[in-house]
Parts: sequence; C-alpha cells; structure tokens
Amino acid sequence: MIGVSDTASTLFSRVDGMAFFERLVDAFYEGVATDEVLLPLYPEQPDLAGARHRLTLFLAQYWGGPTTYLEERGHPRLRMRHLPFSIGPLERDRWLVHMAAAVETVCDDLLEPGGIADELMAYFVPSAEHLRNDTGLPISTTRPGLTSPGSG
Ligand code: HEM
Repeated sequence: MIGVSDTASTLFSRVDGMAFFERLVDAFYEGVATDEVLLPLYPEQPDLAGARHRLTLFLAQYWGGPTTYLEERGHPRLRMRHLPFSIGPLERDRWLVHMAAAVETVCDDLLEPGGIADELMAYFVPSAEHLRNDTGLPISTTRPGLTSPGSG
C-alpha cells in the first residue's frame, strides 16, 4: 500500500487527466452545435466556449480532478443552475445522445463492463433525468452523487 494516494483510483487518474475531459466535452459540444432543440437553450450560443469550459471543469472535478470548478463557480447546485432552461424528456434525450456519442468517440473500452465508458454513462443517464424540471419535483431534491463522487 506504500504510496497509494486517496485519489489513485479516481476516474480522473485512470484517464489522461484534464485532456480526456477536454476531448469529451469538445466532442459533446460538436453535437450540441448542430442540435436545433438544444442549441437555442444555451444563453451564449452560438458561442459555446464558456459552456464548454464550465462543463469540462465540472466533470474533471466530479471525477476526482482539480477543484477549479468550485473555485470559479462555487458549489455546483446543478438542479438550480438548470432551472432557467426547460428540460423535459426531449431535451434530456438529445443531451444524452450527444454525450453518448462523445463517450464513444473518446473511450476505447466501450465493450468492457465497468470500464470508463460504462462508468461515465452510469452517471450521465440518471443525472440527466434528475435535471428535468418539468416534473414538479422541488428544486431542493438532491440525488446523492450528482455533486460529489462516491457519496451515494
Ligand atoms: C448529466 C447531466 C448534466 C450535467 C452533469 C450538466 C452539467 C452542466 C454544468 C456543469 C453546467 C454549467 C453550470 C454553471 O457553472 O453555470 C451546465 C450548463 C448548462 N446545461 Fe447542463 N448538465 C447536464 C444535463 C443537461 C441537460 C439534460 C440539458 C438540456 C437542455 C442541459 C443544458 C444546459 C444548459 C443550456 C447550460 C448553460 C450553458 C452554460 O453554462 O452557458 N444540461 N450543465
């Protein structure tokens, strides 16, 4: 156990760190840029650079990387931050289609159960559902794990 740090098994440390999340998010936004349902929701569109930056930092932090997102944006509170955008089943599914395609582009362990691709999608699928705001659920409803890895 000598030299094994707390973060040794984080997903961030199993991929090539920040560069992996940059590739993932770049691929994701390439899809969003062509999506007539999602693109209009992005406040700064057609400029997606800010959105790209925020999502990259959030995902890197979520999976055990640097806490730059927290320093720049504060606590994620993702349900609250998504309230200005109307998210129903259609938006959730469009988002997931682009994220699944991005995961496919950047992960080379797609067929490996419990691999990186599996782990990413096991987070994205329920989280996107949780961010729907057409269900009448109170915004204080939290899903353990949406904002901190491994807590649920
Ligand atoms: C696993 C699911 C999701 C995660 C982890 C996620 C994460 C994020 C993060 C971290 C931000 C930036 C928050 C900030 O600091 O201001 C953001 C912004 C945003 N998200 Fe999501 N999101 C998810 C699902 C969705 C879905 C389903 C939609 C559907 C429309 C969506 C639409 C947006 C929009 C329009 C923004 C504003 C872009 C911006 O930052 O300028 N998100 N999301």
